[in-house]
Amino acid sequence: MSETRIPLAGVIGHPVAHSKSPKLHGHWLKTYGLAGFYVPMDVSPEDLETVLRTLPQAGFVGANVTVPHKEAALRLADEVSDRAKRIGAANTLVFRDDGSIHADNTDGYGFMENLRSGAPDWNPQDGPAVVFGAGGAARAVLQALIDAGVPEVLLTNRTRARADQLKEEFGSQITVIDWLQAGNVIENAELVVNTTSLGMQGQPELRVPLDGLQPGAVVTDLVYAPLKTRLLQTAEDAGCTTVDGLGMLLHQAVPGFERWFGHRPEVTDELRATVLG
Ligand code: ATR
Repeated sequence: MSETRIPLAGVIGHPVAHSKSPKLHGHWLKTYGLAGFYVPMDVSPEDLETVLRTLPQAGFVGANVTVPHKEAALRLADEVSDRAKRIGAANTLVFRDDGSIHADNTDGYGFMENLRSGAPDWNPQDGPAVVFGAGGAARAVLQALIDAGVPEVLLTNRTRARADQLKEEFGSQITVIDWLQAGNVIENAELVVNTTSLGMQGQPELRVPLDGLQPGAVVTDLVYAPLKTRLLQTAEDAGCTTVDGLGMLLHQAVPGFERWFGHRPEVTDELRATVLG
């Protein structure tokens, strides 16, 4: 790519209209006065490969990929980071000068940065984490927690077989707990994470009994609409430290923006307000 070209990036999804990424990256481009554009791209699964192979020729330096393309993008990439491999999905692509595609997954990184900034006193080594859910989001959370040195993850999911599968993949730190028994292990948790869609606007509530929550525990929810889920409200009432899910979305975007536009951006209250607005 010639030096004078304005760098382009965007988010590829199907649908994509709901994505907050254009607002997020647009805010950073404006704040730092950088040349560049970040656009939403609605691409159907059958067109994904053609689009990915063509974007570099049009001046794109990379892209985010979201539902339903995260697994396909990993397969199509020429090179894949270790963490993306372990998560089994990509969310951040970098197009190299020769047009080859490097795939990374920054969801686990975003999760951990959000936790570190929202609960700075939490120490991964302190004790077990309880994780609700065993879908794609749970995979990123498990990668991050295990890499951070959490000694034990108590993993629980409505469909137990999916949790068993994650134990097979992610290893011996994981103990699978029956969904109906989840309430019984809460009192052991230093950290509680909801990765399910329960509690999201339009979805049923998370019904796991939470009376075992200890005041010293940290509780975080990947759901950010609403920002304060019932889980977070209950945790707050029990004296826990709570961390909402919006920060994960903001932090996961940092590495991509830095690589594409050459400036490491900051997650600020102003950014939060912009993305929520
Ligand atoms: P994501 O990529 O957001 O994790 P997903 O892979 O579809 O999405 O996973 C959704 C998660 O929410 C799963 O853990 C799912 O549980 P199942 O594996 O049993 O489907 C969980 N989930 C969704 N609706 C649920 C419900 N009504 N009760 C319990 N768990 C639910």
